[in-house]
Amino acid sequence: MYTIAVSNQKGGVGKTTSVANLAAGFARRGLRVLALDADPQGSLTLSLGLDPMEVTTTVGDSMLHGTPLPVVATEVPGLDLCPSNRFLADIEPQLMARIGRERFLVRVLHAVRYRYNYVFLDTPPTLGLLTLNCLAAANALLVPVIPALLSAAGLRDLLATIEEVREGINPDLRLAGVFITFADPRTVAGREKEAELREDLGTLVMKATIGRRVAHEYSAQAGLPVVVQDPTSTAAREYLALAEEALERVRAK
Ligand SMILES: Nc1ncnc2c1ncn2[C@@H]1O[C@H](COP(=O)(O)OP(=O)(O)OP(=O)(O)O)[C@@H](O)[C@H]1O
Ligand SMILES: [Mg+2]
Repeated sequence: MYTIAVSNQKGGVGKTTSVANLAAGFARRGLRVLALDADPQGSLTLSLGLDPMEVTTTVGDSMLHGTPLPVVATEVPGLDLCPSNRFLADIEPQLMARIGRERFLVRVLHAVRYRYNYVFLDTPPTLGLLTLNCLAAANALLVPVIPALLSAAGLRDLLATIEEVREGINPDLRLAGVFITFADPRTVAGREKEAELREDLGTLVMKATIGRRVAHEYSAQAGLPVVVQDPTSTAAREYLALAEEALERVRAK
């Protein structure tokens, strides 16, 4: 089992959409995949067809009480979901008082290590204990960024945070790639920002780029990722290319 966290403290950069499509993309390749919603917003849960209001147990219960991870099958063959809802937020203050508070998810995932080839973790847009548990449990990290909204200082902060996580809780965490979302190649500013990012980070930036496409908004509401709903669309092909590249990168470890 290999665990990939998709994380960026910045909100609305496409973390959840990426987890849904990458996880479904991996499952389409015949891999056994778990998509774990570690965000109390429950967006991944909704994107994979489940109403967060109907969810009764989340990863938080397993982390606090050692109970089995609650997973459900999705409509995508080979893809399971560990759902979430707003009550997941309640575990952060509870974890705070516990020893080894960043390492609860590590144990939970250890128990399912023979069931899945890949686990994708969708993190909240904060650096709280849920995110830190994800970063502690991950083998690799993929970071979605919107070049137009990323300043040089923002980029330095992001890389510094990853370094702190590596030093503090998970020395084996590998930054497998940074990828561009909401790309807007039609504007000069969009193109320039993307070129700058590639110049700054070199091969760390993945080749596949995710454009701004309304299909993603519709599919999130429909509860099925675009790569499954409309696999030949441009929106799907972009994510399938990203999934291929991500798979190559994690296999080349
Ligand atoms: N490539 C895209 N093109 C157009 N809309 C997109 C794209 N990716 C995501 N969206 C939409 O933008 C919104 C934010 O995306 P998403 O939820 O994936 O971001 P996030 O980083 O997970 O947000 P949060 O930080 O709140 O968890 C959603 O409504 C989603 O449907
Ligand atoms: Mg999200």
